[in-house]
Amino acid sequence: MASARSVFRCTDCGAEQPKWGGRCDACGAWNTLAEEPVGRNAGKADRGNALPSNVPPVRLSDVAESRMERWRTGLPEFDFVLGGGIVPGSVVLVGGEPGIGKSTLLLQCAARLEQAGIATLYVSGEESPDQVRLRADRLTVDAGRVHVLGETRLEAVLHHAQALGSRVVFVDSIQTTYTEELEGAPGNVGQVRDCAARLMRFAKEAGPAVFLVGHVTKGGGIAGPKTLEHIVDTVLYFEGESTLDHRILRAVKNRFGSVDEIGVFEMTGAGLEPVADPAAAFLAGRATGVSGSAVTALMEGTRPMLVEIQALASKSGFGTPQRVATGLDHRRLAVLLAVLERRGGVPFAALDVFVNVTGGVRLLEPSSDLAVTAALLSSVRDRPLPADALFLGEVGLGGEVRPVAGVERRLAEAARQGFGRVFLSARSRGSAAGLDVVAVDGIGDLARRLAA
Ligand code: TYD
Ligand code: MG
Repeated sequence: MASARSVFRCTDCGAEQPKWGGRCDACGAWNTLAEEPVGRNAGKADRGNALPSNVPPVRLSDVAESRMERWRTGLPEFDFVLGGGIVPGSVVLVGGEPGIGKSTLLLQCAARLEQAGIATLYVSGEESPDQVRLRADRLTVDAGRVHVLGETRLEAVLHHAQALGSRVVFVDSIQTTYTEELEGAPGNVGQVRDCAARLMRFAKEAGPAVFLVGHVTKGGGIAGPKTLEHIVDTVLYFEGESTLDHRILRAVKNRFGSVDEIGVFEMTGAGLEPVADPAAAFLAGRATGVSGSAVTALMEGTRPMLVEIQALASKSGFGTPQRVATGLDHRRLAVLLAVLERRGGVPFAALDVFVNVTGGVRLLEPSSDLAVTAALLSSVRDRPLPADALFLGEVGLGGEVRPVAGVERRLAEAARQGFGRVFLSARSRGSAAGLDVVAVDGIGDLARRLAA
């Protein structure tokens, strides 16, 4: 039972409530309220943000022009996602599922920075220095100069960072870090927020850049990282299937660069390697001449990326047919199936349908609708699509095909990778040298053209 010295905090949105309930009043999420004891200094994290206090107002013109110094990490994909390198005094949250490679990435980053003469401190609250050493031994880069601290007490972390004069501090992870000023176990939302806020203040006052590792589970529901997003300067998520080699680092918030930029890495036996040609990375190993496979071009930030969508429609047994979508929203798949059935006259009622985006990529924009539709058609008819064809368009409920944004850049990338034709909305105006444009009015039109 809650004592008078407890509050309940939503682990998703961070909202505070006086009593427990099954559902958070603020964001509506279920089963996210966690009890949080109130300590002597509880609430400190929420008092303003982490900027220094007691400074008088100044005219904007009197504010010294920002030098915007950046430290290159030597990992080009990492620098790109950060917006050009590490900004001194910034706090970056690196979130991702356990085992995806967060510790590996940051250790490599620390090693490179040390080689460039930038002092680092790698705080490992989850693994002993021995274990960190074992990981370091696998890497191609020499991490010997990196200072490692096996510590979970925030006060000790701050003390050592100051004493060493570290310019970049890595805290692995924020969920294992705790402050003695608050009651409550490490990982508890209050602890996570208070530690992050104090590290933020440390970064702003003393000038080092701080990287915080935050574990996120598959469901995305976890105490911590989500509630930190608005405190920190930059939020990066490390994605991918841990069973596959490719890893995507995505910026979802960046005060010092653009968002939605992604960097692509490959997990090798010797650490993470930036992928040299990320736009082409996900098509490598594509089997052509197989039905149910279609290619589309996604925009990831400013970068076009070609990805393969695979569909398999097979006769279902008894009962409700299965619908399995990997890499795309299952509701989107349901919509496209209904549109194909009603507007294209293709029945799916007796078919199990599986759709998969290869390489662990997730489709977040509707521009890939046409490719999903083409893959489904191809599988139902068991007829491969032309190997040099790209599909680009959003599909509406009326079966109409709509133009997509950034078409020129997507087409230029497809042409560069040797594609020969693109199926586009008839209302789209895109073109690229070397690409034949096949204009499609709607789903019925697409079905006819692919049957021809
Ligand atoms: P890790 O960085 O420990 O993940 P996280 O910190 O996000 O939990 O990475 C763990 C996985 O990466 C582990 O399964 C082993 C693998 N790995 C390699 O394949 N090659 C390597 O060189 C290293 C260091 C790890
Ligand atoms: Mg780790």
